[in-house]
Amino acid sequence: MAWTSFPVARFQGAIRAPGDKSCSHRALMLAGIAKGTSEVTGLLEGEDVLNTARAMQALGAEAERTGPQSWRITGVGAAGLRSPSSALDFGNSGTGSRLMMGLMSGYDLTADLIGDESLSGRPMGRVIDPLKLMGAEFLPEGRSQLPLTLQGKANLKAISYAPKQASAQIKSCILLAGLNADGETEVTEKRATRDHTERMLRSFGVEVSVRAGTGTENIVSIRGGQQLEAVETSIPGDPSSAAFLIAGAIISPAGGVVVEHVMSNETRDGFFQAASRMGAGLGAEQIGDGAGERLVDLQAATSALKGCDIPETLVASMIDEFPILAVLAAFAKGETRVTGADELRVKESDRISAIVAMLRVNGVEVEEHEDGFTVMGCDGPPPGGGLVETRHDHRIAMSALVMGTASQKPVSIDNADMIATSYPDFMDHMRELGADIRTA
Ligand code: S3P
Repeated sequence: MAWTSFPVARFQGAIRAPGDKSCSHRALMLAGIAKGTSEVTGLLEGEDVLNTARAMQALGAEAERTGPQSWRITGVGAAGLRSPSSALDFGNSGTGSRLMMGLMSGYDLTADLIGDESLSGRPMGRVIDPLKLMGAEFLPEGRSQLPLTLQGKANLKAISYAPKQASAQIKSCILLAGLNADGETEVTEKRATRDHTERMLRSFGVEVSVRAGTGTENIVSIRGGQQLEAVETSIPGDPSSAAFLIAGAIISPAGGVVVEHVMSNETRDGFFQAASRMGAGLGAEQIGDGAGERLVDLQAATSALKGCDIPETLVASMIDEFPILAVLAAFAKGETRVTGADELRVKESDRISAIVAMLRVNGVEVEEHEDGFTVMGCDGPPPGGGLVETRHDHRIAMSALVMGTASQKPVSIDNADMIATSYPDFMDHMRELGADIRTA
């Protein structure tokens, strides 16, 4: 079903950020293998995370919803995960599937893994290769996309591995397999990526060490055989979801938004740094800590934007925010250039191509590069009036709807269903702030 976002005169109010998707997946996984019963509040109840909860249940953990965003999870502890009786469906989620592959690899079990059309087209070789080196097996031999069958092994070998891509999913997958490997597993990242797995493992009582390598390298290691202990934890707000509301305030003719309870972590804040460079008026008020992360209330208001070159050093810390950054770039004066972001080609969609198409259909001039794009900003509201192809990609859908709130003409999307994978309350939150979004 198509949806249209109409231009509105103001975009104002305060919203509590939904739970962070990355942390929600990890909380379910770690609580599900821990000894004892964990209580998790503030969990994101998006489709991606619910698929991880179902997978953990099928593998033997007890996961019960005790109230809105509140879950009680009794982990399998020393008994370990067991083979599920039917295929594990990860839906649209790269994070769910790749991290679970690592987690499952260290147990004697067999599991069939499936996903939706978008996930079934995404590369899995990046996690299969290191897991095979550790001793896990994947069938059919030579296949590097879902559907796949995983055969875990209780006697995994520890490895030292340097992934080609700077990817928190690959790092986390290997560390989670390393939990049950014999010896010390070490991952050398080209550049530090989001560190939620490391932080959350520590909160469950696991020792994880992190040190600097040469240049920008970040080396993370974990000793196998450590038992996790249950915790009580609350999931911090998702900066990637907050970015949509913050962008809405920046481009609005009368914008003033506070997004409360957002995680402030330097491995995730690239979008806010880039927006500030472009001239966005942002503020952050520290409000405390939660689940080993700092929390802030983020503020944003109407701002005149200027284009800029996005430094490649920011790419990893804003990897999910390029669609919404492209929207800011469309409103800015001058060019915004993104390079070194070739990983965008293998997200929920080929995001470089999807971003370029989203802007062009709305009258914005944009150039596509192999590893990024250049937007020629409109120095104010872009024409709009286009129908955006969302390509099973929640972040393209949400970015286009935000763009419509302040473009000259309304912006439509072909489908809004995928938004529920990461931000089920998105439409309600947008409307609360003043957006006018309707089905066509
Ligand atoms: C995630 C890591 C990122 C990001 C994804 C969530 C995670 O993927 O795009 O939405 O939770 O570890 P990559 O590690 O593949 O870049």
